[in-house]
Amino acid sequence: MTNTPYPVDMSVKPEVTGFFDEATNTISYVVKDPNSNACAIVDSVMDIDYAAGRITYDSADEIIAFVQKNDLKVEWLIETHVHADHLSGAPYIQGKLGGKIGIGDKITVVQDTFGKVFNEGTEFQRDGSQFDRLFVDGDTYQIGTMTAFAIYTPGHTPACMVHVVGNAAFVGDTLFMPDGGSARADFPGGDAGTLYDSIQKVLALPDDMRLFMCHDYGPNGREIRWETTVGDEKAHNIHVGGGKTREDFIKFRTERDAQLAMPKLIIPSLQVNMRAGQLPPADDSGKTFLKVPVNGL
Ligand SMILES: [Fe+2]
Repeated sequence: MTNTPYPVDMSVKPEVTGFFDEATNTISYVVKDPNSNACAIVDSVMDIDYAAGRITYDSADEIIAFVQKNDLKVEWLIETHVHADHLSGAPYIQGKLGGKIGIGDKITVVQDTFGKVFNEGTEFQRDGSQFDRLFVDGDTYQIGTMTAFAIYTPGHTPACMVHVVGNAAFVGDTLFMPDGGSARADFPGGDAGTLYDSIQKVLALPDDMRLFMCHDYGPNGREIRWETTVGDEKAHNIHVGGGKTREDFIKFRTERDAQLAMPKLIIPSLQVNMRAGQLPPADDSGKTFLKVPVNGL
């Protein structure tokens, strides 16, 4: 049974291929329409050796090779949110394969917050115009013959959205695998109670909806996994499953978040991802730099 107000069509079964990025524990996805060669790419990665200031594209190239080998047409490059732990590979892939880059319209809130943190000038637009499409709650879009829709799921960040395509949902950092629990809610604009409410929206999807994670860290030494179901999360998620209350969750999440270190790549990730995956503009010498705000985060 489902009590979701969204246009769920469980009869549509996209072909989903996950790509695991070992450096950041991110899973990117190619989501293919079974009735055409159309696909979307969700949460792609651009590689960075931050210590060396070096950008490379091995992860994105792997996805590009997959798309080319299978003769797919990329219609969308979806960002579930502004990631703080890896850089987006969306513009690089778009340059090679086309497609539109989309994110939630609350990106403007994130741009406003981090535009200030990084003291960006007026040339940094805070209107989301770096993206091709800004989704609002319930917005639908086509991937070939499939209709996808996006749901507001703030809490981890203000711009988080879950994307549902037929019987598959891409949950971003709303949920982790049942033994991983949930993502932190202490970034600027994050909120534990709001995250709990967003998770309830995901858990209101049909029990056999396939859920695809953005991250997995293999808790307790288990192998990396990224697919589960709504029913499994409802029953077993260690942070929200088995009927845990909103109050329990807020208390647990707040205490846990206070112990967590900043993600290693948060500083370069935010500067790039708030620009839809573009590096900051080069300076007068033609060189490109990333900033480190001292005591600014
Ligand atoms: Fe995230």
